[in-house]
This record gives sequence, structure tokens and C-alpha cells, in this order.
Amino acid sequence: MKIGVLTGGGDCPGLNPAIRGFVMRALDYGDECWGLRDGWRGLVENIVESEPLTVGRVEEIIRQGGTMLGSSRTNPFKEGQEADLEKCLSHIRSNHFDVIAALGGDDTLGVANRLYHEHGIKTVGIPKTMDNDLSETDYTFGFDSAVAVATDALDRLKDTAKSHSRIMVLEVMGRHAGWVALYTAIAGGADWILIPEQMEPADPKAPDAAAHRTQKLAAELNEMVQHLKAARARGKNYGLVVVSEGVQAPKPAETEVKVDAFGHIILAEQGIGRYVAQWIESETKFETREASIGHIQRGGAPTVFDRVLATRLGIKAADCIHEGQFGMMVAIRGNEIVAVDLRKAVGISKTVPLSLYNELKTLFNK
Ligand code: F6P
Repeated sequence: MKIGVLTGGGDCPGLNPAIRGFVMRALDYGDECWGLRDGWRGLVENIVESEPLTVGRVEEIIRQGGTMLGSSRTNPFKEGQEADLEKCLSHIRSNHFDVIAALGGDDTLGVANRLYHEHGIKTVGIPKTMDNDLSETDYTFGFDSAVAVATDALDRLKDTAKSHSRIMVLEVMGRHAGWVALYTAIAGGADWILIPEQMEPADPKAPDAAAHRTQKLAAELNEMVQHLKAARARGKNYGLVVVSEGVQAPKPAETEVKVDAFGHIILAEQGIGRYVAQWIESETKFETREASIGHIQRGGAPTVFDRVLATRLGIKAADCIHEGQFGMMVAIRGNEIVAVDLRKAVGISKTVPLSLYNELKTLFNK
């Protein structure tokens, strides 16, 4: 088999170990693996690496962050750019690729799913994302590494918060899922946490959904303020708050929002951390500062958990190809690596269940 391999969407630690596991197993089967540069752009613009992926090229990348193949948010199904899809299909044919192995999150795997079901291209997906928001898998690699970085940041903020008797607000990534914020807040011993799931109305498409979120956010912020005041009254001279970038602050209707090629709002520009910090300072009069660690969460060596998970997923994806299982995504369920239908995995985000948040709330209301 001649396999094209690509990594799409936001990079994260674990991509290189996954490529390594995949290539090593595929070579066992006698397959040939070719790297496509920068996600789906590699197929749209025909940027295929000049030499195949060999043991020599992948054996030492287990501890390297980022992706050796480069990444982008190129979307060959973007409306109004139909020629890109044609180019993508024609380059798959001209390079004689039998299969495309795509490592990515919801967007990248959504393209793999559509290529398979709408155009008959054999695809296999390997899930990655620091957001941990992909359905059908318990974890995605990148998440554990991102939480480790964010927890380290929170530990550091605690030192300076204590020295200055301040409240520190840490804004973390995670898109519309609060996984990174939740795990960071637990592991770093935060006093309060704000995640998008808390504000989400039963029907997110209802006309009053935005008003509901604003009201819910105000209620949460007021509860948090009472809590921070109570903690100060019992002698705690500092406070740590973790907020997920996906929590939406109210904004004037005419505010321009920037979106990427898949139509996602660039959340870091919303500045929810600053909004929360200002709210705290004005309501408590406690000196408050805000820190946003942004893309720092996506860099650095993968954790042991991510290295092992990514390697196992890569191996399983090569097995799927060998067994003729296409249109599938590899996944971890419990400690088993399994293959699931790509259709089920894409489109619906795996967000934090409110039951889990409520179970853990005992840690954030003392
Ligand atoms: O999906 C991963 C992620 O890091 C999100 O948490 C974040 O909202 C987004 O990517 C940032 O995207 P970009 O790297 O394009 O700025």
C-alpha cells in the first residue's frame, strides 16, 4: 500500500510519537508511507515530501513536540473554494496513494470522513487535540501534556499570588470544552473554575441562548466573588481562578469576530481572562492580575501518557489499514485501543458533563 500521512489543525505534543508508531507498524506490513506537508494543504497544493518516512526518519522523534510534517487549518471542503477539493482528489490520484492517514481533531478528521463517504477515498483517522473534545475516545493525546504545562503555570502563579496577596486568573485554551481548565484547576488546587459548559443553555441554537449565557456567567461570577471574599475572611491571602477561553463574555453586537478556515471563532482574542479579572477586582477590591498562557500549552515534549497513547494509536491505525478497515478512527476506551466509525467521532464535541463538574464542585467552594 502507498499511504499518504498528514497532520492537520492545531499541533500538540504526541503527533510525532503517533507518526513514529504508525510508520513503524506500516513498515512491518511492507507499506510505503509518504509525508504530506501542512495538513490538507499538502494534498491541495501537492506538497509531498521528497523521501518516504523510514525508520531512520522517525525513530528519534518520540520526545519531540510539534509535528515533523507541519500543520495547517486548510479545509478542502471550504465553501466557495470548490477547486481545492478537485485539486486534493486529483493529487491523491496522481501520487497513487491507496490510503490517507490523517492525524487531527474534529476538523481534520471531518475532512477524512467526507473524503471517504462522499468521494470513496480510503482514509483512517488518528485523534489528537489538546482540547480533549473528540467524541468516541476517552482521551486524545496532547491533552495530558497541555494540562501538565497549565498546571505548572498555575503552581507558579500561586507563588506570586501569595507573595502579593493577589487573586490570579489563569486563562487556558480548550475551545468550547472545559477539559483543560477543569483538570488544571483540580491538579493546581484552584479556588474557582469557569468552564463554558456551566453557561450552556439546553438549546444552544435558541434565540435567547446568548442572553442565557450572559445571565449565567453573571450568576457564576457573583458566586465566585462571594467565595473569594469568604476565603479572604478565613485568612487565605490569595486566590487562584482558572477560566476556559470558551466562556463567552458579553460583547456589543457590532463587534467583529475573526474565524478560521473551518469557521471557528479565534477564542483567544475574546479576552475572557481579562474580563473575569476586572470583574473580581471591581467587586472585591482585591488586587487581581490575569495571565493567559496561550500556545505555550501546545509546545514542549509530550508527557509519558501522551507518548504511550499516541504510539498505541499510531500502531492501531496501521493495523486498520492492513485489515482493510477504512472510514475509521482509532480510539482509547478504558485501556483498550479500538477502531470506531469516523462518522460517529466527528461533528459532536465531547464536553465536560455537568455531573462531573458538580461532583468536583466541592473542591471549588471552600
Ligand atoms: O484546538 C486546539 C486549540 O489550541 C484550541 O484550544 C484553541 O482555541 C485553538 O487551537 C487556537 O488555534 P490557533 O493555533 O489557530 O491559534
